[in-house]
Formats: sequence, structure tokens, C-alpha cells
Amino acid sequence: MTKILVTGANGQLGTELTEALREKYGAERVLATDIRKLEGQEGLFEVLDVMDAERMLALVKDYGITQIYHLAAMLSARGEQNPELAWDLNMNSLLNVLNIARSEKLDKVYWPSSIAVFGPQSPKKDTPQHTIMEPNTIYGISKLAGERWCEYYHDKYGVDVRSLRYPGLIGYKSTPGGGTTDYAVSIYHDALAGDNFTCFLDKHTYLPMMFMSDAIQATIQLMEAPREAIKVRSSYNVSAMSFSPEEVAASIKKHIPDFKIDYAPDFREKIAQGWPDSIDDQAARSDWAWKESVQLEDMTEIMLREIKLMQTI
Ligand code: SER
Repeated sequence: MTKILVTGANGQLGTELTEALREKYGAERVLATDIRKLEGQEGLFEVLDVMDAERMLALVKDYGITQIYHLAAMLSARGEQNPELAWDLNMNSLLNVLNIARSEKLDKVYWPSSIAVFGPQSPKKDTPQHTIMEPNTIYGISKLAGERWCEYYHDKYGVDVRSLRYPGLIGYKSTPGGGTTDYAVSIYHDALAGDNFTCFLDKHTYLPMMFMSDAIQATIQLMEAPREAIKVRSSYNVSAMSFSPEEVAASIKKHIPDFKIDYAPDFREKIAQGWPDSIDDQAARSDWAWKESVQLEDMTEIMLREIKLMQTI
């Protein structure tokens, strides 16, 4: 019987993935965990510091957990402010999860990687699955090392760990924190609030992005694929769209003609400069039939509509 533990369940991805997993498997089969309990937190929940391996193991045993979705991590921009903590958190928590998966013989583990595993030496356009990596942020370094650990635990110990290299994720139900792609979420909130938006990236900086419903779909599809279909045991490239701040602003202006954007690139521009413009995800498409549904213009329409609705409730 599937019993899932989600770490970082109150984060940007965790909020929506937990909801989707509960819909799919039943609310009583999905234990949400996070470092803090939210006021009015609903559903099965336990406070868990992912660095605390003993408590993680106790929860796995107490709840009869068969799968872990390990989402807790420090993102790229915040990681640059505190590199040692980012390394410690991102790396040791993953090792805790992999060790528990091995000792408790869990069915499956999901762990997100990122486009941040690539670096300034990687090809910028249609960045391939296998290429020069050389990330230059601590977040990217921790994700690349994590990918190697995942493949190692799969090959050496038979742990069925699966992973996606997410692009920037954009959704209306939750907000990101500490990432370089976060502007593409806050731009919609500011546009609806009638504020001018000051972008921390340059107007021409392209980054790969994905609407949250596609990210959830990709994750569940990967986790449901038969074991033998998963040929990449580090992490799969997945892509949906690529755009620059100027392009997302233009798509917002079609709905809010008065919307104004200006640009004040900061240290995050340098992080973005080291990342791909666009991603080649042929492997994901052919191994487990990945295909995105939402492109920029549709996403803008959905984001503006849903955020507005939430504001009026
Ligand atoms: N969205 C993440 C970030 O900006 C990348 O994985 O840090």
C-alpha cells in the first residue's frame, strides 16, 4: 500500500505536489512535513527538520512510509548568501533520505534537481541531457553532486530514486522563495496590484520555465513510469517554454495595458547568465512520454485570472 512522505511540503512545489498526491492516493496516504507548521495547516502533517535523520527514520517507521518526495532545499539566490548552510542542507538531507530508502527498502524516492546544474561552459541553447556541467552557484553544485549520489544509490544499492531537472516553476497557489526565477511569479502579483514591476534580471535574459500544472504532471508521470523505462538515473532534462522578462511583460500588457516594468539587474542576473536559455529534453520525451501543455500566453491568462480570483475571495 502506497504511503508517501513529502518534505518541504509547504514550499512552492510542495504545496501543489502534496495536494496532487492527496487527490491521487487519498489524503490519509500522504504525510506532509516541513520545518514549520502553518497556521490552519490541513491534513496529515508532522514538523520535520530534514537534517534530523533519526526523526525522519522514526516518521517513516511510524507511518509505514513506502515513498519519499524530498523537496526541502535552499534555492539558488538564498544559497549564494549562505553557501555552507546551503551545501549542508541540500546535501545531508538528500543523504538522509537515500540512506533511509536503502535501509527501509522504500519503493521509490523522488528528488528534484534543476537547470542550475548547468554552468557558463554548458551550451546555452537546447542544452543537452549529457554535456559540460560546471555549475558556479552553490545550489547548482549541490544539485549536481546530488544527481551523482542518486545515480550511485540506484546503481550500487538498487534504490529506485527518480529525478527531474526543473526549469523555473510558475504557479498561483504558492510563492517561491530565494530563487533566481522567482521574478516570473512576482511579476503577475505586482501587475494585478497595479504596481510598477522592477525586475532583478535584464530584459533580454532568457530562462527555461514551466507552469506548475506541467511540473506536477511531469513528476507524477515520471514516478508512475515502469522502473525499466527510467534510463536516466541522475536526473532528466524537462522543458516547456523559455522567455525573457521583456516577453512575459509583453504578454501581461495584452491584458493590463498600463502595466509598466523597469530593470535593475542584481547578483541574480549573474546567476541567470550561467544557466541555459533553453533545454533539450528528448530523453524524457522518449523514455516516459513527457509532453508539456502550457505555453507563455496561456500561462499569463491563467495566472492573471486565478490570482485575481484569490484576491477577491
Ligand atoms: N528556480 C530555481 C532557482 O531559481 C532553480 O531551480 O533557484
